[in-house]
Amino acid sequence: MKIGYYQYAPEFHDPETTLKRIERALTGVEADLIVLPELALSGYLFADRQETAACAEPVPGPVSDRFSRLAADSGCAFVYGCIEQDGADNLYNSSVFISPDGTIHVYRKAHLFNREKLLFTPGDSGFFTFSFRGAAIGMLVCFDHLFPEAARTLALSGAQIICHPSNLVLPGTAQITTRSRSIENRVYWILANRTGSETSGPVSCTYTGKSQITGPDGSVLTSSSEEDEELVVIEVDPAAAHDKFISKRNHVLKDRRPELYTGISLPYREVQ
Ligand code: ACM
Repeated sequence: MKIGYYQYAPEFHDPETTLKRIERALTGVEADLIVLPELALSGYLFADRQETAACAEPVPGPVSDRFSRLAADSGCAFVYGCIEQDGADNLYNSSVFISPDGTIHVYRKAHLFNREKLLFTPGDSGFFTFSFRGAAIGMLVCFDHLFPEAARTLALSGAQIICHPSNLVLPGTAQITTRSRSIENRVYWILANRTGSETSGPVSCTYTGKSQITGPDGSVLTSSSEEDEELVVIEVDPAAAHDKFISKRNHVLKDRRPELYTGISLPYREVQ
C-alpha cells in the first residue's frame, strides 16, 4: 500500500484558494492514502468563534464533495483536517477521510489545545477504526498524540495505520511521542504537519513541519524538513502491524494488565 502526506502552509482564512492549491498538487497522485494537516484549508489561528465559523463547513458538504472528486479521479483516499459545522451550533476540529468510492468517515478532535478551547466543541466521535483496501485505519488530530490512551484505544480496535493531521507548534515533541505510540502499539503512524506562521491580533504561531511516517517497529520511514512544501509517498505493508510481538514472549497488546490499570479511568486527583 502506498501511503503518504502533503506538508504545506494553507492560505490564511482562505479555504477556496487553499483547496485549489491542494487540487493542483494532488491531482493524479500515485498513492492509496494521503494525509493532509489539521485545519488544512483555513489555517489555525482565529480571533473568536465568529471568525472560525466563517471558515467552517458541513461534512458532507461542498468541500468534501471536491475531495470526493479528487479521490475518485486519482484513485487515492485523502484525510484532511477541517472546521466542521454540525446542524446545531457546534464547531468541531475534525479529521475527514474520503475514499475514491465516496465513503466518508469523520473523527472530531477529542483533546483541544490551548485557545482551541475557546473556539471548538470537544469531539464526541470517540476513537474508531475502519477498513480501506484491506488495512484498518484510525484517525487522531494533533494534540491527541499526548494522550497515549487515544492511540491505545485505536490499536485495541485493530488499527494498523494511524492518520494524524497536525498543526504542531512545539518543536520536536510529536516526532518523539508518535514514534513511541508506533512502538508501543506496533502500528504505522502518518504525522502530517504544516509549515509557515500566522498572526491573529496579539497571538502568533510558527508551525514546525517535520512530518514523518513511522513503522510498527518504531523506525522513521520518512521525514520532512521544517519549512518546505513536500508531498511524500512510501510503500508499506499494513499486515506488518498485525505482528504485535516485540520479543518471542511479549505481545504489546496481550501482555497488558488491565486489572492493574483501573486508575486510568479515574479523574486526576491533585495532591494538596
Ligand atoms: C495542536 O493541537 N494543534 C497543537
